[in-house]
Amino acid sequence: MQKPILDMTAGSRMFWWDKHNPLAIFMDRRRAKFTIPDRSHGRADGTREIDIAPDVQWDWAKDGLPYPDASFSLVVFDPPHLVHAGSKSWLRAKYGVLTDTWREDLRRGMDEAMRVLIPYGIVMFKWNDEQIKLSEVLKAIDRKPIFGDKKAKTHWLVFMKEADK
Ligand SMILES: C[S@@+](CC[C@H](N)C(=O)[O-])C[C@H]1O[C@@H](n2cnc3c(N)ncnc32)[C@H](O)[C@@H]1O
Repeated sequence: MQKPILDMTAGSRMFWWDKHNPLAIFMDRRRAKFTIPDRSHGRADGTREIDIAPDVQWDWAKDGLPYPDASFSLVVFDPPHLVHAGSKSWLRAKYGVLTDTWREDLRRGMDEAMRVLIPYGIVMFKWNDEQIKLSEVLKAIDRKPIFGDKKAKTHWLVFMKEADK
């Protein structure tokens, strides 16, 4: 069966309720295991394992997405939101970091997400304002969400193919 969901920035699948949801393809450019400090869950020694184990290891900023046009109903796009993070920080381990080309990279990511969607398919985009304001990101990707959170620091936005300009 062709799976209807692509998570193109799956990381360790933290926000997935079912981390092995059979409807989804999980993609990330990294494949890695980290031990990070975390007292909220995890082990008695106050650490936690972060396992980044994508189904497909791929860099869409470099190579686009390896799927034909109109392949998915839903694309999940939760890119790193930090340009600065300590080289050994747990934030870097969990979320990855952006480089100086973040504007071009996010734009390519969003263009590719739209390309592989069916007509009126959905991109679920997540952003955190910590270092780069959402308004800058929307300018860089040159698309408009149909709705989503405007005020909180973390934004969950919905874009629809054919309704995003
Ligand atoms: C904010 S994290 C995603 C967290 C994830 N949503 C979760 O629930 O755990 C962003 C992820 O995007 C990946 N990423 C960043 N740029 C990428 C690229 N060009 N191609 C593929 N994956 C990328 C990073 O390696 C990182 O794991």
